[in-house]
Amino acid sequence: MAAAGSAAEKTLHDAIAANKGEYLLAIDGSIPTKDSGVYSLTGGRSNLAMLKQVAADAKAILAIGTCAAFGGIPKAFPNPTGAVGVEDLVADKPIVNIPGCPPVPEVLSGVLAYFISFGKLPDLDDRKRPLAYFGATIHDQCYRRAFYDQGKFAHSFDDEGARQGWCLFELGCKGPTTHNACASLKWNNGTSFPIQSGHGCIGCSQPDFWDAGSFYTSLAGASATGWRNAGIAAAVGVAGGAVAALTARSKAHPTEDKS
Ligand code: SF4
Ligand code: F3S
Repeated sequence: MAAAGSAAEKTLHDAIAANKGEYLLAIDGSIPTKDSGVYSLTGGRSNLAMLKQVAADAKAILAIGTCAAFGGIPKAFPNPTGAVGVEDLVADKPIVNIPGCPPVPEVLSGVLAYFISFGKLPDLDDRKRPLAYFGATIHDQCYRRAFYDQGKFAHSFDDEGARQGWCLFELGCKGPTTHNACASLKWNNGTSFPIQSGHGCIGCSQPDFWDAGSFYTSLAGASATGWRNAGIAAAVGVAGGAVAALTARSKAHPTEDKS
């Protein structure tokens, strides 16, 4: 839509009328709800009223960016405008959340390409995020993960560990609890991503990331050791459970194919 002002409004409403029930609605930004949504207006109308109107005949909604998906920074405490994400306001339409501050552009392109190719939305996780891009954590795909597993951590941004490219967990990296595709797709045509530039992930694609404590406090508090050991114990527990399940299954069905 290249127009602006009333011409843009006309283009929007013409497009809705010509594609009722068939269009994808892309929403960027959170929606203020306090005082009837008066804190964000376009052409004298609240974004709250506009959303309800343009969502009514959409086939599905793409909530692009952490603000549209989860409310983002405007929703952070004390949230003076009552800002929320799309999913808090629209309950009767399929929604795809593509969080990130900003979101990875290839993820948006990928979701659109999937919809155009297959005529349906991609598989989503329990936060309505495309599984293909948000199924793993940053930590799962991080090139510094080998250092994490070896217990090699930078303790300041200019110590020897930082110079060696060791894990940034103790400097507050939120990669272990953050789902996004930055570590695989990266930014600027695959040039880099925050951790490759020497700073921990701040969890910008997670709900309420701005209120989740300091960006520079480790997820484990002072040391990574307890956190890492807990993760290893959990992994061993899961693996042990899987072995037990397989053993029970093989006892119950001893002639089944083992391949
Ligand atoms: Fe990478 Fe951060 Fe995980 Fe370390 S804690 S391996 S820097 S994602
Ligand atoms: Fe955001 Fe973390 Fe990626 S801060 S840009 S989700 S590496």
